[in-house]
Amino acid sequence: MTTELRETSPLSGPNETLDPKNWDDIRSLGHRMLDDMLDYVANVRDRPVWRPIPQDVRARFQAGLPRQPSDLGDVYREFTDFIVPYATGNVHPGFMGWVHGGGTAVGMLAEMLAAGLNANLGGRDHIPIEVERQVVEWTRAMFGFPGEASGIFVTGTSMANLMAVLVARTTALGQSVRQRGVGDQGASLTAYASTATHGCVAKAMDLAGFGTDALRIIEADRFHRIDVAALRARIVLDRAAGCKPFLVIGSAGTVDIGAIDDLEALSALCREQGLWFHVDGAYGALGILAPVIAPRLAGMENADSIALDFHKWGQVPYDAGFLIVRDGRRHRDTFSTPAAYLQREARGLAAGSPWPCDLGPDLSRGFRALKTWFTLKTYGTEKLGAMIARTCAVAGYLEERIKAEPRLELLAPVQLNIVCFRYRAADADKVNGDIVIDIQESGIAAPSTTVLDGRLAIRAAIVNHRTDTRDIDALVAAVLEFGARRSSPGAG
Ligand SMILES: Cc1ncc(COP(=O)(O)O)c(C=O)c1O
Repeated sequence: MTTELRETSPLSGPNETLDPKNWDDIRSLGHRMLDDMLDYVANVRDRPVWRPIPQDVRARFQAGLPRQPSDLGDVYREFTDFIVPYATGNVHPGFMGWVHGGGTAVGMLAEMLAAGLNANLGGRDHIPIEVERQVVEWTRAMFGFPGEASGIFVTGTSMANLMAVLVARTTALGQSVRQRGVGDQGASLTAYASTATHGCVAKAMDLAGFGTDALRIIEADRFHRIDVAALRARIVLDRAAGCKPFLVIGSAGTVDIGAIDDLEALSALCREQGLWFHVDGAYGALGILAPVIAPRLAGMENADSIALDFHKWGQVPYDAGFLIVRDGRRHRDTFSTPAAYLQREARGLAAGSPWPCDLGPDLSRGFRALKTWFTLKTYGTEKLGAMIARTCAVAGYLEERIKAEPRLELLAPVQLNIVCFRYRAADADKVNGDIVIDIQESGIAAPSTTVLDGRLAIRAAIVNHRTDTRDIDALVAAVLEFGARRSSPGAG
């Protein structure tokens, strides 16, 4: 190196490591952050569920790329002042919108520990991978899958459903599909799901290259369960037309009203017809832990694959989606891709094949397993099952309140933990849409909406383990109050 180069080299400047100059300073600030976040969770009830974001706060997050360093304490103050107050609100017991888990302090601490380890769970031989394998094994036991089953953490059920479609595709067309693409043979493959199936399944068919038309949408009964006779008839019709049915997707807890398909009938039909049977159990699959719900999931143990989220009913902090596949070989055949730089060895750090990167599209992967492992170990499945059953009981309490209140109308049978209802009014769709937004903006609760039989419903999904009858009473009172205001003459 020339003298000139040496003088301009980064090596001649100050030490540019990103570690703190003074570990004591960051330690005391870190302790404060931890205390603040524990207080946040402990006292979440004292705050509004959600609040609208003021324009000046939103504008702060449009500032340019920071080129110069800032003091960590100042950055943290921005977090406490401008991020914390405007979060989604799903930690709060009044949050009932969509299907969001509430998280736990245990999961939060585990997430911090995982960040400290900064493990990459794509592969290699280290204990974090054994932790994931242990959770896979526990999940296998939970669902009664055989020893050769395999599983993997992913972002969420949208990704797990996509991966299941890909495993079913490789099974139907053989591994050559991975070189040649779905081609003409793939163009005749058809999959089946009901009108109540989550939209991410159609998206998965699109992303997998089949297109959404290849997903046959089968009607559902008034409980939103797939009509198995109609499904059978459609399969027969499609075969007669030269199509090749390959996949049926059943739901264990539909997104709108929490319906569970007849999984036993679906598994029998799939066995008879030689079709891949996938269960979208995004939130409902973990109902297996609750003795009052488990019998209604009968048949799920026969599935070829199940997608589920530990971040929903499992209360693991986001994100912790999961895919389990009955035949681990088919799972690996779909995703494993040899590469010189990912060479496996019998010993050393490159040992321990197969690696998680052989089971999905991701190579770099975080340590989602740790927060799930902490959650399962700390609470145990019996307590988690009791918590899940309790959310259904809280939903039952809301159902009873609605039935007892003439101004309210139940719009769908309550089967698990989701209640769809509305305030009776002329122009009810408009009034109820406004009621939901009014309640969200009030900070009292956060329901969401859906449309059932063309009618807009207020939808309360009781997923959060903190939600209790007080929150239901507050929701009902708010619906009645805003409903009266919105439907009074002259309301705008
Ligand atoms: C039945 C069902 N399937 C799939 C999904 C999508 O899951 P994720 O949001 O984890 O991708 C959801 C989300 O609520 C769901 O309820």
